[in-house]
Amino acid sequence: MQRYVMAIDQGTTSTRCILFDQRARLVSVAQREHRQWFPKPGWVEQDAVEIWRNIDRIVPQALRESGIAAEQVVALGIANQRETTVVWDRRTGAPVGRAIVWQDVRTERLVAELAERPGAEEIRDRCGLPLATYFAAPRLRWLLDTTPGLRARAERGDVLFGTMETWIIWNLTGGTDGGVHVTDVTNASRTLLMNVATLSWDKDLLAFFDIPALMLPEIRPSTGDYGVTRRVVAGIPIRAALGDQQAALFGQTCFSRGQTKCTYGTGSFLLMNTGNSAVRSTHGLLTTIGYQLAGEPAVYALEGSIAVTGSLVQWFRDNLGLIATAPEIETLAGTVEDNGGCYIVPAFSGLFAPRWRSDARGIIVGLTSYITKGHLARAVLEATAWQTREVLDAMNADLGVNAAAINVDGGMTSDNLLMQFIADVLDIPVNRPMISETVSLGAAYAAGLSAGYWPDLEGLRRNWHLAAQWLPSMDPAYREAEYDNWRRAAELSYGWARR
Ligand code: G3P
Repeated sequence: MQRYVMAIDQGTTSTRCILFDQRARLVSVAQREHRQWFPKPGWVEQDAVEIWRNIDRIVPQALRESGIAAEQVVALGIANQRETTVVWDRRTGAPVGRAIVWQDVRTERLVAELAERPGAEEIRDRCGLPLATYFAAPRLRWLLDTTPGLRARAERGDVLFGTMETWIIWNLTGGTDGGVHVTDVTNASRTLLMNVATLSWDKDLLAFFDIPALMLPEIRPSTGDYGVTRRVVAGIPIRAALGDQQAALFGQTCFSRGQTKCTYGTGSFLLMNTGNSAVRSTHGLLTTIGYQLAGEPAVYALEGSIAVTGSLVQWFRDNLGLIATAPEIETLAGTVEDNGGCYIVPAFSGLFAPRWRSDARGIIVGLTSYITKGHLARAVLEATAWQTREVLDAMNADLGVNAAAINVDGGMTSDNLLMQFIADVLDIPVNRPMISETVSLGAAYAAGLSAGYWPDLEGLRRNWHLAAQWLPSMDPAYREAEYDNWRRAAELSYGWARR
């Protein structure tokens, strides 16, 4: 009997179920988008029940369309959008409200107040993260403060907290009928509540954010026994869970210290494997867990998170209507030679790494009557490249050595103009592997490794093959002048948000 590994990639805009064979070939894909709610400026919500229903449809669909039976699936790995916060009732399984998404900045005022309190200065040391709206703890605190009766229910253990993998695993393993309430170290490392050295919930951080411990899931390594599915399709062993960016690091087989990837999706996330040591950033990067295989020490990573990249293209398409489909941006940008002096700083959720400015909001600068939609399209793409450059500069400064190349993946890597511009502004080669589904692949690799489907990391590495490479060719003086313009533009976005 042929055997396969299943991955669920629960992302910001859609959820996918992919089946892989032993040669890491993709044999089946099913996907569904879910709705985004923007109830107020800066607020972003999703319906966790809709996401769960999508899983209920795509998992059987992926099996049915490939003619593969559940018994042939040796392991399931889950990768998920990180930091998105769900709270639900243990007895009914119903969420207490819509999930608050990682891009949501409603906690800006709360975060500013918390930053003034005693203990705030120790947060980064304990959990590796700056105090910012991006992470889960302020959202959870906001829900506890604003939902009538929720704190009392949480203190009695009647409601549960989770990020998306926790919600999905709890539902898959039985839900109200004995669902397993767990998270993995990579997702827990994005809450502001996990101690990055001990890999457990930190009592002082729980006290600082005033979060009842009873509502938190158990933290586990990224691979191991997460239970067996009892709903949707019964009998599939869940063997791995990772945040999607960490899954991409794994899927890119960045298993050695110093290896780096950047995934260009809704946002973009540059992660560098730093081995078994937690490197503390002094340049605005995050110390996070890369992955932890069962029974082994954690592998750490330095991360530069960029909130808005692909979602800026979506905004350009959906809110401005200047293109009909996302790939058209490349053609439109190709109608002009350069940006015409125009820069877009997409600080829709403030600015993340390396600036961490919750008070920033998006701006377009340099408008003149010369500017066409082609220039705007170019400025949209260039914003992604300049943000990558800022993050890579921070990484090089933290490590004291310059990265020699960068491995890329994600939807935006099909945009040649953008990839060339990134190579130009980073001044290093940009490499894309044959298998671009690195998030799903990473979740599958972790689960398959845990189930003995793949023997070791070396075997996985051999599956990595170069598909495309972009080499830098920009005049250095021009590059630095443009970078300077971008930085001036970014600073102009500060202080715009009203608290
Ligand atoms: O930190 C947020 C990140 O995990 C979201 O990734 O690809 O779902 O937009 P993506």
